[in-house]
Amino acid sequence: MRPISTDLDQALALLQAGELVGIPTETVYGLAADASRPDAVAKIFAMKGRPADHPVIVHIAGRQQLADWAQDIPDAAWKLADAFWPGSLTLILRRKPHVPDAVTGGQDTVGLRAPAHPLTHALLERFGGGLAAPSANQFGHVSPTTAGHVYNEFGDALGLILDGGPCTVGVESTIVGLTDAHPTLLRPGGIPAEAIEAVLGVKLIHHEKPTTAKLRVSGLLDSHYAPRTPLLVGPLAALEAEAYQRFEAGQRVALLHHSQMLQAVCGAECHAMPLNAESYARALYATLREHDGDRFDVLLLEQPPQTAAWLAVNDRVKRAASGWLA
Ligand code: TXA
Ligand code: MG
Repeated sequence: MRPISTDLDQALALLQAGELVGIPTETVYGLAADASRPDAVAKIFAMKGRPADHPVIVHIAGRQQLADWAQDIPDAAWKLADAFWPGSLTLILRRKPHVPDAVTGGQDTVGLRAPAHPLTHALLERFGGGLAAPSANQFGHVSPTTAGHVYNEFGDALGLILDGGPCTVGVESTIVGLTDAHPTLLRPGGIPAEAIEAVLGVKLIHHEKPTTAKLRVSGLLDSHYAPRTPLLVGPLAALEAEAYQRFEAGQRVALLHHSQMLQAVCGAECHAMPLNAESYARALYATLREHDGDRFDVLLLEQPPQTAAWLAVNDRVKRAASGWLA
């Protein structure tokens, strides 16, 4: 039997014993351990195959626990916690001295977030402490948005996956750094940057890496959130031409498009993505997973719109892509 259930008592017992549990959040599923125990947190890194110097987010029930983990907390942090918690926002703050290096990657900061999923919120309230949890996928792979995805990543090596249904947001939390004089957008995500700026009354600093330059060389891009099948991104016309060439060469091609309805493009399997940014975000990882594996030789994804509402989607697409077509 697959270790998937909604048993909070069992989840609590495992976490208290220093074991790992897959947990649902509104963004993506997490691989959780007691954040106060370096031995438990070490198991996360071992299971994910993740480098030990990468910090992990500490999940808490709410603002009442912020000061358990962070110190020198600026007003901006309280404002943002009040406005967006529980929700898809992670705050980077100065850590309290007791926070294990295994959690912070040895830095003097800690990432904190109160997730909005009711099952995990209830778990956190009963647990009382913090749960260190990165996304529940092998290092570099596409994040999971269902309990089944988590099972596909780790199989029976993970003792329990709490089943909270499909994630409603579908991309990871927005990360805001509050340790410098000026707040910084470190990762676009579930909460739009504009909503955060409206609460703070200032623009966030955002150092975006160059994006859709006509990079053709795979490996030059941050390989993260990536399917195993090569993923090429570009405008629809370029993808249609590419699909045709590859079909002629005997390849199996999937074409993920959104701007127009397509019946078929010369042998490619066409899949329509949602037109709205939020629905697209919710569907993105699941769609990449559905088309990954050995069904196709290549996935061709139509480049999403380049507007503010699509910032998080474009960030993930950029990292998932192995190349771009002009
Ligand atoms: O929505 C999410 O944030 C999901 C769910 C499970 O909560 N979690 C997630 O975790 O995406 P992960 O580990 O896949 O990504 C966490 C990001 C990493 O890029 C990490 O570098 C950054 O958060 N991070 C965590 N703690 C940090 C810190 N102290 N300073 C700077 N960055 C930090
Ligand atoms: Mg991740």
